[in-house]
Amino acid sequence: MCGIIGCVGRGDETLDTLVHGLSKLEYRGYDSAGVAMANGGVDVVKTAGEIDDLRRTLEGSALTGDVGIGHTRWSTHGPPTDANAHPHQDCTGDVAVVHNGIIENYQSLRDELVGAGHTFTSDTDTEVVPHLVEDALEAGVDPERAVRDAIARLEGSYAVAVVVAGHSTVYAARNDSPLVLGLGEDETFLASDVPAFRDYTDQVVYLADGEFARLDAEGWTVTTLDGESVETDVDTIEWDPEETGKSGYDHYMLKEIHEQPRALRQCLRGRVDEMAGTVDIEDLGDLSPTGVQFVACGTSYHAALYGAQLFRNAGIPAQAFLASEYATSVPPIGDALVVGVTQSGETADTLSALRAARKRGARTMTVTNVVGSTAARECDHAFYIRAGPEIGVAASKTFSSQQVALNLLALGMTRTVDTRDVITSLRELPGNVQRVLDESAAEAVAEVYQDADAYFFIGRGYQHPVALEGALKMKEITYKHAEGFASGELKHGPLALVTEHTPVFAVVTGDGEQARKTVGNVKEVEARDAPVVAISDGQTDVARYADHVLEIPETHPRAAAVLANTHLQLLSYHTAALLGRNIDKPRNLAKSVTVE
Ligand code: AGP
Repeated sequence: MCGIIGCVGRGDETLDTLVHGLSKLEYRGYDSAGVAMANGGVDVVKTAGEIDDLRRTLEGSALTGDVGIGHTRWSTHGPPTDANAHPHQDCTGDVAVVHNGIIENYQSLRDELVGAGHTFTSDTDTEVVPHLVEDALEAGVDPERAVRDAIARLEGSYAVAVVVAGHSTVYAARNDSPLVLGLGEDETFLASDVPAFRDYTDQVVYLADGEFARLDAEGWTVTTLDGESVETDVDTIEWDPEETGKSGYDHYMLKEIHEQPRALRQCLRGRVDEMAGTVDIEDLGDLSPTGVQFVACGTSYHAALYGAQLFRNAGIPAQAFLASEYATSVPPIGDALVVGVTQSGETADTLSALRAARKRGARTMTVTNVVGSTAARECDHAFYIRAGPEIGVAASKTFSSQQVALNLLALGMTRTVDTRDVITSLRELPGNVQRVLDESAAEAVAEVYQDADAYFFIGRGYQHPVALEGALKMKEITYKHAEGFASGELKHGPLALVTEHTPVFAVVTGDGEQARKTVGNVKEVEARDAPVVAISDGQTDVARYADHVLEIPETHPRAAAVLANTHLQLLSYHTAALLGRNIDKPRNLAKSVTVE
């Protein structure tokens, strides 16, 4: 789970292009970084720390060259040190390699190479690659063949890019880790993700597993690892480079929270007919599933829990599974549709669960934000949430877009009766989210409770996943203890944790039996002197038992879940800001988790 960049044809701009690209990829990992430039030889500069540390280190170097590769790392093998930072080199220093993924057979390769006299300088799995290339070069093989042969020996997941002294070429290959080419005029890029080079081109080619790319002054080629030609599609990226800047906000996360009205509009565009009360997702074909199994991780898992309820409430058996657990005991699938909910489309646990399902003959679908992602390419169907790029590690606009997309899927696939109310509430959502953003008292509440020992979140039905997501967001960016519970579960154990120092955030919407029961649970915590913050549409009397109320407009309970979550996003954001946390890049985390 690292970020890779490479470019040829940028002349004197090469180094700046690499460093700029790395800064756009920092969301993929940020514990060390480095670049390699091929000139007559290969020069490498790398350091533990973030891209700004790399910039400082580069100030004292005289790195030149018009072909280069770069890397921002999130450790899997070995701690984040200068030595373990990428690029890695061979014994002669003529080969430099950057890698994202895990080489599963690295230990046996390393033993073999050490036995043959190679000296290793890092703890990483990656370092076997330059030494394998070195062996092949010494045997008289040309550089391209040497790189292909080295890669053919790797088992596991990888996106690799390689430069070799004396050759103005970048070689690259992928298996189970993303890699995309950017095609400019007389210049070519490669990267783990498009934002790395989006400032220079909107033309891209997504590499598939088992493909090998060569970038040089002549342009680019893509073949199989064995050298057979493959057909490639050139796609056009439709979002603007501006969309990956902060646009005046202090953090990407805050910007992305505020982008939700637009993101939700994009998700809905062309997919609902409010007059007819119908949803049009016909491009997916007639799926008519007899059951749905969702697989997902983290925030996407919370969206999946919400989605499973939507399908169950429409009479279709549906369950959400943690992707990392799914393959340990695959449930009977029958004719169920297996749906991977994944913002990035690259989460290894989710891909692996989808593959396990496919192996058993299941039809698969992904609900994802990234066109051309591995999940989108591997699944039978892809349904895009259209949220636009999300840079903050903490998912915000992509969660609400997933909620809306799952509503569309449930409505489109199940043709339930009372669609009109739901559709109206979905159409009103962008405006209602804007209202919450404009009027939320979350910042003031954050000020009151910033020093609390722990935070609890409760909700029922559609609001249960919102409670879980509220807690995840709070832990992720504030580093404080936070837990989300189904309201009814509190009295079965967690109530013992509740004290006057532990604020309880209760999501209570509607006026039905579920809401009334949650008000009962609120009374239970209030009786234990816990401060209560109600997220309420005013349809119950929960405000009587609450110290603060975060108000949402009255709407359908499904849409209320999106509005309640917006307050909780702001609450976590402002708490983290008051505590001075690194909001966009919380410690130990990365945006896209491409290891299991
Ligand atoms: C949420 O804020 C986290 N960044 C994390 O839980 C994330 O949702 C999870 O890693 C899954 O990512 P995906 O949606 O890209 O598959």
